[in-house]
Amino acid sequence: METKIRFKLNGKFVELSTDPLRRLIDVLREDYDLKGVKEGCSEGECGACSVLFNGKMVTSCIIPIGAADGQEIMTIEGVSATEKGKVIVEAFADGGAVQCGFCIPGMVIAAYCLLSSNPDPTDDEIRLGISGNICRCTGYDLIVESIRLAARRGEALWKK
Ligand code: FES
Ligand code: FES
Repeated sequence: METKIRFKLNGKFVELSTDPLRRLIDVLREDYDLKGVKEGCSEGECGACSVLFNGKMVTSCIIPIGAADGQEIMTIEGVSATEKGKVIVEAFADGGAVQCGFCIPGMVIAAYCLLSSNPDPTDDEIRLGISGNICRCTGYDLIVESIRLAARRGEALWKK
């Protein structure tokens, strides 16, 4: 049965009528054309489908859209348009962290969460921060270096 669901998506209120049990990832990709949300494992294990749910990172492949009613969702499209997001995306590009690119939206969101709560992480803390995200191209070293670069470049921003 269809239900009306209203939520904030990348800063704007949206409303749709749909089956509340549809997966959040499907609504984001199919109804809102937010194709930066990637699908890998489909079971909450790889982090490719990560989004921010009320500011916390979640895997959108295991969340029903009904849970988003009245909440705030940010996808990579919204995150990368913020000042902090831009610093991370540029650091990933300049640091050579992007190979096939499939894991990168989830990695950027993980980096955003990490740096927002820990502006000056050690390498171990960075590795822990991205530990729920799998890179199939095994680009972890460059990803860690790029997050370190983003921490340096955005120092004033993270501490706001
Ligand atoms: S596709 Fe959602 S965690 Fe892998
Ligand atoms: S860059 Fe290819 S999966 Fe990470």
